Parts: sequence; structure tokens; C-alpha cells
Amino acid sequence: MKLKLAILPGDGIGPEVVREGLKVIRAVCARFGHELACEEALVGAAAIDAAGDPYPEATHKLCMESDAVFFGAIGHPKYDNDPSARIRPEQGLLRMRQMLGLYANVRPVSALPSLVHTSPLRADLVEGVDFVCIRELTGGLYFGRPQGRSEDGLTAYDTCLYSRHEVERIVRLAFDYAMRRRRKLTVVDKANVLATSRLWRQVAGEIAAEYPGVETEYMFVDNAAMRIIQSPRSFDVIVTENMFGDILTDEASVIAGSLGLLPSLSAGLHTSVYEPIHGSYPQAAGKNIANPLASILSAALMFEHSFGLHDEALAVRKAVALSVERRTVTEDIAAGAASFTTSEVGDSICKLIAEA
Ligand code: IPM
Ligand code: MG
Repeated sequence: MKLKLAILPGDGIGPEVVREGLKVIRAVCARFGHELACEEALVGAAAIDAAGDPYPEATHKLCMESDAVFFGAIGHPKYDNDPSARIRPEQGLLRMRQMLGLYANVRPVSALPSLVHTSPLRADLVEGVDFVCIRELTGGLYFGRPQGRSEDGLTAYDTCLYSRHEVERIVRLAFDYAMRRRRKLTVVDKANVLATSRLWRQVAGEIAAEYPGVETEYMFVDNAAMRIIQSPRSFDVIVTENMFGDILTDEASVIAGSLGLLPSLSAGLHTSVYEPIHGSYPQAAGKNIANPLASILSAALMFEHSFGLHDEALAVRKAVALSVERRTVTEDIAAGAASFTTSEVGDSICKLIAEA
């Protein structure tokens, strides 16, 4: 098969983890006889510096022409505490999501057996956790307008906006996931307070009637935040709006043992994007210490979801599990023992794939 990929390393540790992810993609293509065509493009702070635009037209064009987009991270501290900055790196990510129509962000959460003891949560809670959080990605507070400041600067506002159509397509996708898994769906909202959440709950209720085989439960987001830590095994598929999903998945990464372990796929209208859920982690940039596993596991999602290559995805996941078992890991999951660099972890996984 021929795979045409757009590579968007972005900022901070993005380029380092994408380099390892790409190494692994190459190793898989060599091992299984696929042809790979990759082209790199600018996004985020790197693109602002080079082109004055966090998501340049050339980058968008490349994404539209590719089978899949392999993405690193976005964000730079020089913009974080500058409320007057008109152009921000994150706008690049948001514009990309919007222009590619990436409405469904799928974030699987599980704990590798060999890492159960590195999670700050008790091993007996974390063992066997396996759920998927489906986060709506192109609506809600992130995109609702109006957004801004009053003229006197004393008031600021964001708008949480959802149309029935937006809720329907993401909830349907979540039910389809639940059908292929353990047939349980948790709809997370704040319907006791928010009008958008009441629309979510109404639409989810209507669609649930079409899936009698799925057990559907409704949970307020504050309660869900507690239950994810208290009894993570009770979840199978979670579906929620944009910002709740952003927050809950950072929280859920604690179950896996590190934010550096969670991959994601964003699917939608034009192409799919594969990226770690973590950010650009500027403090670690250029030090070769970032955990590349979230990026490498995103490559597994890509083989599976964009190309239907299940053996290839399995090969990546097996190599990751084995490498972690042998403790070839970065310091975030080394639990005080000797740790390896970003590139050493990538090399170890490539070697295991080549030998398999
Ligand atoms: C994520 C990130 C982004 C988000 C930021 C960088 C804008 O936190 O992908 O989870 O909030 O969506
Ligand atoms: Mg986030």
C-alpha cells in the first residue's frame, strides 16, 4: 500500500516526538512492504515565526492532499502570558481542526500491565482499565461567537454553542464505537446548568432509542471527573463536548501513568489527524527527554483507522508493550530507575518491530 502523509511537527517537544513516531512508521512500512511518501509543513509558533500565520495556506493544502496528518504539538510560552498577542500558536491548531472538519477526537485510555505500578493511583483501581473518550472537537466554547472583551476592557465573554446536527453526528459516532466494544456509553454533560448540555442530553436520548443493545448512562461532568479516578474500569465509551473532553482526558492520563502515553485520532470531513494528547512541554524541548510513546501509539491508530492496517497497528502496540516491559522508558515513567532518551526509546521500538 502507498501511504501519503503530512508531517506537522509544530512546537516544543513536537519535533522530537514526531521524529520517533515517524521512525516507527518507517520501520513498520519496511517490515510490511508499504511505500511511504512524507512531506513536512509548518504549524504553530514555528509557523508564526516563519510565515506570520500559525496555520499557513500551504500547510492546509498539504493536509487536504494527504491520506493522513501526523501532528506533534503546539504552543510556546512567549504567548501564554501576553494577553495582547493577536496571533497565537493555538489558533493554528483550532483553525486546522475547523478547516479539516475534525469534529471527532478519539482518545483511548488504558494502562499497560507493566506500568500499573507507576500510576499515582492504586494498582487495583488501574488494572484492566480500557475506555475511550470521544471529545467533540469543532464546537462549544472553543469556537462559539461572540467571544471577546467589552470596549472598556472590564468584561470578557465566550459563547458555548452547539447545533443539533453537531451533537447528533458525534453521539452517533460514539454509539457506533460502543457497539464495537463493551456496549456501554456514558454521556457527560452539565445538563443541570447549561442549555447546550440539555440539547446534548435530549439528542443523545433520541439516538439511544436506535441502539437498544447499548447501555446508555448520563453523568454530570463534575461527577464524571470524580468517577474517572474512583472507578475507571466502570467506563467503556465516554462522549462529551469540546472543553469537558479536553479536561477529562488530561485527568484520565493519570491512569495510564503519564500524559506522555496517550495517543489520539481526530476524524472528520476531509482527512484524519493523529497526535499525542499532550502539549508542547516547552521546558523539555530540545533535551531529548520527552516520552515519544504517545506519538508512536498515535501511529498505531493511524495504521488502523486511516489505512485499515490492523496487523501493522498491532505490531506497533506489541513493540511498545515489550519495550516498556523491558524498562526501556523515558524518565516520566521510569519510577526512579535508570531512564532512556527520547531517541533511544524510538530506536528500541523500531528494533523490536524489525525483529518481530
Ligand atoms: C488538546 C490541547 C489543545 C486543546 C490546546 C493546545 C489548544 O490541550 O489538544 O487537548 O485545548 O484542545
Ligand atoms: Mg488538552
